[in-house]
Amino acid sequence: MYERGAVDGLEWRTMVGAMTADIETSEFELSQFVRSVRSVRRFAETPIADDVLGDILETARWTGSAKNTQPWELIVVRDRELLRELSECGTFAGHLAGAQAAVCLVMDDDHKRLDEGRLAQQIMAAAWAHGIGSCIGTMQPEANVARAKNLLGLPKERGLSTTISLGYPADPRALRRSLEPGGAAGVPIGRKSMHDFVSWDRFDQRG
Ligand SMILES: Cc1cc2nc3c(=O)[nH]c(=O)nc-3n(C[C@H](O)[C@H](O)[C@H](O)COP(=O)(O)O)c2cc1C
Repeated sequence: MYERGAVDGLEWRTMVGAMTADIETSEFELSQFVRSVRSVRRFAETPIADDVLGDILETARWTGSAKNTQPWELIVVRDRELLRELSECGTFAGHLAGAQAAVCLVMDDDHKRLDEGRLAQQIMAAAWAHGIGSCIGTMQPEANVARAKNLLGLPKERGLSTTISLGYPADPRALRRSLEPGGAAGVPIGRKSMHDFVSWDRFDQRG
C-alpha cells in the first residue's frame, strides 16, 4: 500500500520523529525534509483532520515578515463548490478543484511578495510534515483576481495572488505530476546544477 508522504527514500514518520525529537535524526535528514517539499496536484479524498489543519495554520502564523509587519491574513476554503470556482480563476489552478482545502493568502497589498513567498513555503512545509501535499495556484490574469476576490468577499484593495491546494497525495505518481506530459504547466521537476546555481565571492566565480 502506498505509504502516506513517503518521498525520495525518506519516510514521513522519520521526518515527524525528527521534529518531535522522539528519535535521533541527523541535521542532514532534516535538510532532506526541507528539500523534499514539492508540488502535488492530485489529491486523495481523505479529509484533513481539524487538528492537522490547525497545526499547519499555527506554523503559518509564525512565518517571519519584514519588520514583523505580518502583512497577511489567510482564508481557508473547504467548500467544494467554492474550490471549484477558484480553480477557474487561474491559468494553472485546476488542481484546486480536487483539493481537500485551499489556503488563500490575503495580503495587505500587492507589494509584499517576499513575505508572501515565505508564508507560502512555510504552509507547504508544515503540510508536508503531516504527509499532506500542496501546490500553489496563482490567481491570474487580473479579471480572474477580481473574480476570486469577489468569490471570497475580499475588499478590492487587498492583494490576492496565491492560493495553495492541500490534500493527501492521490498516489505515488502525484508526487511527480510535473514529469507527466500535459501535467500542470508541463514543467520538469529537476533543478539547475549546483555549478549554474552558485558563485563564490564574485558573480560567476564558479566552484
Ligand atoms: C510564484 C509561484 C507561482 C506558482 N503558480 C502555480 C500555478 O498557478 N499552478 C501550478 O500548478 N503550480 C504553480 N506553481 C508551482 C510551480 O510550478 C512549482 O514550484 C515548480 O514547477 C517546481 O515544482 P516541484 O517543486 O514539484 O519540482 C507556482 C510556484 C511559484 C513559486
